[in-house]
Amino acid sequence: MNTMEITKIVGAFCGSLLVFLLIGTFAGAIFDTSSEAVAFSIPVESAEGGDAPAEEAVDVPALVAAADAGKGEAVFKKCAACHKVDGNNAVGPHLDGVVNRPVGSIDGFKYSAPMAGHGGTWDEASLYQFLQSPKAYVPGTAMAFAGLPKSEDRANLIAYLATLNQ
Ligand code: HEC
Repeated sequence: MNTMEITKIVGAFCGSLLVFLLIGTFAGAIFDTSSEAVAFSIPVESAEGGDAPAEEAVDVPALVAAADAGKGEAVFKKCAACHKVDGNNAVGPHLDGVVNRPVGSIDGFKYSAPMAGHGGTWDEASLYQFLQSPKAYVPGTAMAFAGLPKSEDRANLIAYLATLNQ
C-alpha cells in the first residue's frame, strides 16, 4: 500500500515535469525568445547614437552668415526697452560693438556679480546660447528677459548686432 502511494506520487511528479519541459520547448519554438531580444536591441541603440551628435552640430557662424539682419532689427525691439545701440548705457549695457566684446566689460555699467565674473567673449556662438535662455547661460544674471526660443530669431538678431560693430 505504502509503496504504491509513493510510486503514484513520484509518477505524478515525473509526469508534470515532462509536461513543463514540453511546454517550455514548444513555447521556445513558437516565440523564439532569444532572437527576438536581439532584433529589438539593435534599433534602440542606433536611434540613441544618432540623436546626440545632431544637437551639437549647430554651426552658429554659418547660421548667422545666412541670417537676415533686417529681420533681426525687428527682433531687437524686444531688447530696446533696456539696451541702447548709441554708446549709452540704459537698464542694460549698450550693445553696439557687443559681438566679440569681452563679457561684462563696459566701464561704468554696474554688472551683477555673476555677469562680471563670467569671463569669455560674446562671440556668435555664446550670444546664440545666451539669448536662448539668459538665466540658464549666466545663472543669477540681472537681465530680466526670458529668452528667444526660436533659433531663427537669434540668428537674425546676432546678424543685426554684428552690423553695429563698425
Ligand atoms: C528687462 C531689461 C532687459 C531686456 C529686455 C534685455 N536685456 Fe540684455 N541685459 C540687461 C541687463 C540688466 C544686463 C546686465 C546683466 C547683468 O549684469 O547680469 C544685460 C546684459 C546683456 C548682455 C551682456 C552684455 C555685456 O556687456 O556683457 C547682452 C549681450 C544682452 N544683455 C543682450 C540682450 C539682447 C540681445 C536682448 C533682446 C533679445 C536683451 N539683452 C534684452 C537687461 C535687459
